[in-house]
Amino acid sequence: MNTAINIENISKSFPGVLANDSVSFDITSGTIHAIVGENGAGKSTLMKILYGMQKPDNGILKINGDIAKFQSPKDAISAGIGMVHQHFMLADNLTVWENIVLGIDSSNLSKIKKSKYIPDITDLSKKYSLPIDVNLTIDDLGVGEKQRVEILKVLYRGANILILDEPTAVLVPQEVEELFENLKNLVSQGVTILFISHKLDEVMEIADRISVMRGGQHVGTVSKEKASKKILAEMMIGKDLPTPPSRETLISSENCLQLKDLNGVPSLGKIPFEDINLEIKKGEICGIAGVEGNGQRELSEAILGLYPVESGQIFLEDIEITKLSTRERRLTGISFIPEDRQSQGLVVESNLIENIILGKQSSNTYSSKFKNVLFKNASKNSKDVVDNYEVKTPNVQTLALALSGGNQQKFVVGREIDGKPTFLLASQPTRGVDIGAQALIWDKLKEARDMGLGVLLISADLDELLGLSDKLYVIYEGKLVKQLEPTEATPEQLGSYMTGLGI
Ligand SMILES: Nc1ncnc2c1ncn2[C@@H]1O[C@H](COP(=O)(O)OP(=O)(O)OP(=O)(O)O)[C@@H](O)[C@H]1O
Ligand SMILES: [Mg+2]
Repeated sequence: MNTAINIENISKSFPGVLANDSVSFDITSGTIHAIVGENGAGKSTLMKILYGMQKPDNGILKINGDIAKFQSPKDAISAGIGMVHQHFMLADNLTVWENIVLGIDSSNLSKIKKSKYIPDITDLSKKYSLPIDVNLTIDDLGVGEKQRVEILKVLYRGANILILDEPTAVLVPQEVEELFENLKNLVSQGVTILFISHKLDEVMEIADRISVMRGGQHVGTVSKEKASKKILAEMMIGKDLPTPPSRETLISSENCLQLKDLNGVPSLGKIPFEDINLEIKKGEICGIAGVEGNGQRELSEAILGLYPVESGQIFLEDIEITKLSTRERRLTGISFIPEDRQSQGLVVESNLIENIILGKQSSNTYSSKFKNVLFKNASKNSKDVVDNYEVKTPNVQTLALALSGGNQQKFVVGREIDGKPTFLLASQPTRGVDIGAQALIWDKLKEARDMGLGVLLISADLDELLGLSDKLYVIYEGKLVKQLEPTEATPEQLGSYMTGLGI
C-alpha cells in the first residue's frame, strides 16, 4: 500500500507551548485515519501544518513521497490536500454550483457561464455518490447537505486527501451514518481521509487507523482491529473513560425561568421561533434538542435580549424581564454560554483576565463605585476558572486566541457557571471539548443544578441531552414539536423528530 503522507519529526512551538513535539507517523493512501487527543494536544496545529496554514519549526512532510514545503493553503491545494472546516465557509445566498466554483473562476459571478460548470459538478457528484441539486440556494439546505457541498467543493479542486475537523459535531445520528457512507465511498475510490473527532464510538466505527496525540506528542498509532474505546482513552488521558452522569435531582417548585407564548420577529419571511411555552424550575435542567438553524439561536438571543420578540413574555423568578436590556438581564443573574465561543463568548484579542469581565462589566465584582475596573478580582477569578476547569494555558495574561478550541470553550463555560448565576442558558456547552473535559463540565453543571440553578441546555449532542436533562423537548422549524422522557428516549428517536420525521 502507498503512503499518502509521511509526517517526520514535525515540531511547532508557540510562546510558552510546544504544540507539536517531534511528531512522526504515516497515513496510508485510500484509508480513513482518525486523530484523537485531549484539548490542546496539538491536533489542529498538525492539520494546519498539513494544509499550509502554518509552517513547522522543524521536520519534514512528504505528500505521496515528495517533500512538501507549503507556503500557504494554495500550495497544499495544488498538492491535492483539501480541508473542510467545522464552521462551514459557504455563501448562504448563492447556489450550490456557485459556491463550488467560487474562487476558481475569478470573473464576476453574474458573468460566469453556468453551462460551463454544471456538467462537471454533476459528474463529480455522481462519481462520488454525493447527490445534490446544484441549483438550490445554500440557505435552503440542511446541515448534512451543506457539509456535502463543502466536500464537493474540495473534491472539485482536485483533492485526493481530505481533512475533516470534527465533521460530526453538528449532525444528527442519521446524518452521521450518511456522512460515513459517503466517506467509505470516497475511500473506495482512492481518496485518503483524515478525521478529527472527540467521539470514540465514531472513531471506532469509521477509522482504519487511529493516531493518538497527547501534550504535543504522538503517543501511538493503532489499527482499528487492535483498538478499543478503553485502549484509546488510556492512551489519551492515561486512565479509563469517565462514567456518564446520573440524573438524581431535587427539583424545586419555584420558578427560575418562564417563557409565555413567545414569538420571534419574522425575518426574510420566516418566523424564527413560534408559540414557545416553557417553565424551568430552580434545580432543573431543561434540554432542547434540534438541528442547528431551527430557531435555537434566535430563541437564546431573545432570552438574552439580543433578538426582538414580536409577542409573549419572559419571566426570571416571577419578574418580567421581556423589556429589559441585555445588560440589565445579565445583572439580574442570567448567565450565557453562547454556541459560538469565538465571536460571542470571547474577545479573542484580549487576555483571559479581560475576558473574565466580559458580560459583567458593570457588576459590583468588576466595577468600583467610581467606575474603575477591579482588575484584582478579575485576575483572581480568571485564575480560579483556569484551575477549576483545567484550562491549559501558560498563564492568565495569555490572549484567548492562543488557546486551543476546547480550552477556549472550557474558559467560557467556567466563567458562566462559576459566576453564581440565577439562570444559565447553555448552548452547546461541550462542543469541541475532549471526553475528560466533557465529564468535568457535566459534573459542574450537575453540581450547580443541585445547588438550585435552573438551566436551559441547547445541544446537538444527544447523549449529553439524554444524560443531563430533567425534561427534554425537540425544536423543529422554530416550534417545540415534541416533549420526550429523557430516561426513555433514544438518540434515533430524537434524531427523527429533529429532522421533521416522526412528528
Ligand atoms: N496561534 C497560536 N498561538 C499560541 N498558541 C497556540 C496557537 N495555536 C495553538 N496554540 C497552542 O498550541 C497547543 C495545541 O493547540 P491545538 O489547537 O493544536 O490543540 P487541539 O489538539 O486541536 O485541541 P482541541 O481539541 O481543543 O481543538 C495549545 O496549547 C494551544 O494553546
Ligand atoms: Mg483543535
